[in-house]
Amino acid sequence: MSPQSILIGQIVLVFTTIILTTWYATQWVALQFDYDAYLGAPWFTVSDYKIYFPWRLFEWWYSFDAYAPSVFAKGGQIAAGGGFIGTLFAVAGSVWRGRQAKKLTTFGSSQWASKSMMKQAGLFADDGVFLGQAHDNYLRHNGPEHVMAIAPTRSGKGVGLVIPTLLSWTGSTVIHDIKGENWQLTAGWRSTFSHCLLFDPTNTASAKYNPLLEVRKASVKSATYKTLPTSWLTQTVCWSAVTIGRKLRIHCSSAQFSIFSTRRKKRH
Ligand SMILES: Nc1ncnc2c1ncn2[C@@H]1O[C@H](COP(=O)(O)OP(=O)(O)OP(=O)(O)O)[C@@H](O)[C@H]1O
Ligand SMILES: [Mg+2]
Repeated sequence: MSPQSILIGQIVLVFTTIILTTWYATQWVALQFDYDAYLGAPWFTVSDYKIYFPWRLFEWWYSFDAYAPSVFAKGGQIAAGGGFIGTLFAVAGSVWRGRQAKKLTTFGSSQWASKSMMKQAGLFADDGVFLGQAHDNYLRHNGPEHVMAIAPTRSGKGVGLVIPTLLSWTGSTVIHDIKGENWQLTAGWRSTFSHCLLFDPTNTASAKYNPLLEVRKASVKSATYKTLPTSWLTQTVCWSAVTIGRKLRIHCSSAQFSIFSTRRKKRH
């Protein structure tokens, strides 16, 4: 909450407290006098109860104090109590405002997320990419935003984030898996509910793909003839413009890809 909002709330709260307690004191004094006609005309009535203006207490006190000093002393204490409570609210609000003012954002507002911030960001969701663990909950991201994990080698990116995500992610995935560990550890499980392809040209177990099949026999003038060599040259390695599974278009420029599609296996 901004310091300005706190100040406005503080002023409203203090004045409301003082007015309400003074009004209560006025009504209490009127009750002690049994709403006598000498007290004057009420502001309005609510089912036989006469309601007076809050400040009438001071008029009556000035006029009738000699007749019932103890009643006005008690009424005055009630009204003063409201002032005391109002003062407490004012002091508490000032302390709060002072603390808020210390949160300077001159050099940026980035900070470590608190539990409520994590919850608000939807990181305690039951599905999505694993990001870590906090407050006895897994942190998972399931939005359209990109996720990047940067950590030293052998620090647990694979075992902590990538493999748990692959074991729980039910959507399609394309995994750049240079070491092959992700395929080795997760393809078996993922094969139970999806169609998994290992694309590794140096491996005899790899899925086979012939880029020349992209050229349609019927159309000799097809633009494919022109685009294929261009792609091969610019990509420097082997394959380009590959269409696999659910029309996943991938530019392969390194050794190994694992492709997991949610498409069911075809029975041959
Ligand atoms: N099942 C396991 N039990 C205990 N330790 C493990 C297990 N699996 C991996 N480790 C260890 O956890 C550490 C992190 O491994 P991990 O492969 O996740 O790191 P990484 O951050 O992905 O590294 P790299 O950058 O090399 O890919 C390694 O030291 C590894 O030996
Ligand atoms: Mg790794």
